Amino acid sequence: MVFKKKDLLSIKDLSKEEIQHVLELGDSFKEILTRDIKKVPTLRGKTVVNFFAEPSTRTRTSFELAAKRLSADVVNISAKSSSLVKGESLKDTAKTIEALGADAVIVRHLSAGAPKFFAENAKCSVINGGDGAHEHPTQALLDLFTMRQKFGRIEGLHVGIVGDIAHSRVARSNLLALNKMGARVTLIAPPTLIPAGIESLTAVKHGMGAEIKYDFDSVIEKLDVIYMLRIQLERQTESLFPSVREYAKLFGLNLERLKRVKKDILVMHPGPMNRGIEISYEVADIPQTAVTKQVANGVAIRMSVLYLLLGGVEIEKVAN
Ligand code: NCD
Repeated sequence: MVFKKKDLLSIKDLSKEEIQHVLELGDSFKEILTRDIKKVPTLRGKTVVNFFAEPSTRTRTSFELAAKRLSADVVNISAKSSSLVKGESLKDTAKTIEALGADAVIVRHLSAGAPKFFAENAKCSVINGGDGAHEHPTQALLDLFTMRQKFGRIEGLHVGIVGDIAHSRVARSNLLALNKMGARVTLIAPPTLIPAGIESLTAVKHGMGAEIKYDFDSVIEKLDVIYMLRIQLERQTESLFPSVREYAKLFGLNLERLKRVKKDILVMHPGPMNRGIEISYEVADIPQTAVTKQVANGVAIRMSVLYLLLGGVEIEKVAN
């Protein structure tokens, strides 16, 4: 089965069954990545363009490797965001990339909605690689994969997402994805880092059901997964907490706080980490922290997404 859709712009674009399928295909691609020769001819002859108008190390590299492992040709375009914020210039870029013969474009942009705009102006597939504080669907998919790898399921897990919820596209995509898959989500942050009006937003009918806690310690013992978010100082236009030191004390994950968690806790972070702020130097490196696993899983999951959008040789034939 391949997707009947052209683009992946939001987790909302995927049904529960489609998410399940991405994860299962991820298992096959993960196996391929353990081989000596980590490459299959699935997308030979296809062209994937990475269009990143905002800094990125892991997402861009991960998409590049995923496309290369599938034998697609890959072109990287990085753009100074200032010249391409919105309107005609982005439209022209979309038309140009399409004219160059791209089959898929990964769009990262500081403006929410830029990948959608791009998709409306180009016939090729568009994958949202992170747009402003809106969404980052492939990050959520690789996070689900990492949780499923550890617990064998996602349904029923209690996931605490901690920190800069207000500015986090990762939190938003994860919230949607975890809700869809039947996990229980608690958002944990100081009130200034919780988006205004979230209580109405979190109505389950919007696919965003979550509890909100302003006190990390009141809920930490109940969590199966602690998902720490980076404090996005570059997106904050005003000072949203009194001091970084106080934030680290109240909301940072340190060894002291970890003493109270469940025995088989999974600690996650999308990276890049601010060691010493949301996560202590020590906790960043303990075996329960899955940051490098998340990065490794990202390649397999992005292979799944590229495969499902672009279609290719049947995976069964490739795996054998
Ligand atoms: C995140 C992003 O860029 O949205 N990182 C990532 O893609 N792995 C999170 C962040 O920047 O904090």
